Amino acid sequence: MATQPNSPDPRSRLIIHDLAQRNGHADFARDIRRGLTSDPKHLFPKYLYDELGSRLFEAICQVDEYYLTRAEDEILTNHADEIVASTPNCKTLIELGSGSAEKTRKIIEALIRLRGELLFVPVDISASALEESSHALLDSYSSLRIDAYAADYFQALEALPARDESPALVLFLGSNIGNFEQNEAIDFLRAIRRLLRKGDALLLGADLKKDRATLEAAYNDSLGVTRSFIVNELEHINRELDANFDLWAFGLRSVYNESLGRVEVYLESLRPQSVVIGRLDLTTDFKAGERIHIENAYKFDPEDLRKIGEQTGFQLERTWLDRRGRFSSNLFRVSE
Ligand code: AVI
Repeated sequence: MATQPNSPDPRSRLIIHDLAQRNGHADFARDIRRGLTSDPKHLFPKYLYDELGSRLFEAICQVDEYYLTRAEDEILTNHADEIVASTPNCKTLIELGSGSAEKTRKIIEALIRLRGELLFVPVDISASALEESSHALLDSYSSLRIDAYAADYFQALEALPARDESPALVLFLGSNIGNFEQNEAIDFLRAIRRLLRKGDALLLGADLKKDRATLEAAYNDSLGVTRSFIVNELEHINRELDANFDLWAFGLRSVYNESLGRVEVYLESLRPQSVVIGRLDLTTDFKAGERIHIENAYKFDPEDLRKIGEQTGFQLERTWLDRRGRFSSNLFRVSE
């Protein structure tokens, strides 16, 4: 089935491939068992993004302390035309981790201004976020078609069909790259590179290293939205695996590890406690002060980004910063 260009009915311009469903429940159960029986305990950040988690992340993007989204939006607002001019004739825009795709609108509008029509290929782990954002975009742009993938990134990169000859621009925004370990980031960019041809480009949003106070506040906002977002993973386990985590018995700890250049996000047990995970037939004990590692958010120097490009078959062509120099948007070109 193909989407219909310029059809007034938005549904005929949308295909959603839901790959996240396959084995989803078994993988979740296996990963949670593995994380909670490890020493130290850990949980996987991808499970933060259930339906409520995706909404809570959108709320984080609006709190004062979480400057990343506003800084990147400022760059895209001011430079979208220059960014899209760097891939002339681009007819396909691929976005990995598209979420609400609000910031992406700047790029979509610039491409439609330039080319008249566009195929947008968003990939997101959350099928609900993808469906909602796709409908909103199709209602806004009548010359847009969407071929969406609900999947984790690597799964989607494997599943994307071979492209036609026209150049593509890939977006990986929001400093999502920072949630990978360094070796995973390299593997991931190489997987993107394999999908691309000479002349194609990648726009990578990367948060920059800065002072501890700003970074720690961004991951522990005073409204408590980040805490709700992180604790929602325990609620997700309660719901799906019949567990009895007491959500009030865990505090959020976000710490900047300067030597590793990353914010480390933990939940800390506020008292000694035992948690039963019914469907796993597992009881897990916590000491007071014991931490569960949830995610890392790496921060970058411009030099780090150039090197990452060199290791993965890209050349860093241009970097834009927001006015206050907090965040970077980096245009990489396929180098050979
Ligand atoms: C999605 N990702 C880029 C966010 C970040 O900044 O690392 C996830 C996040 N975790 C807590 N706050 C935001």
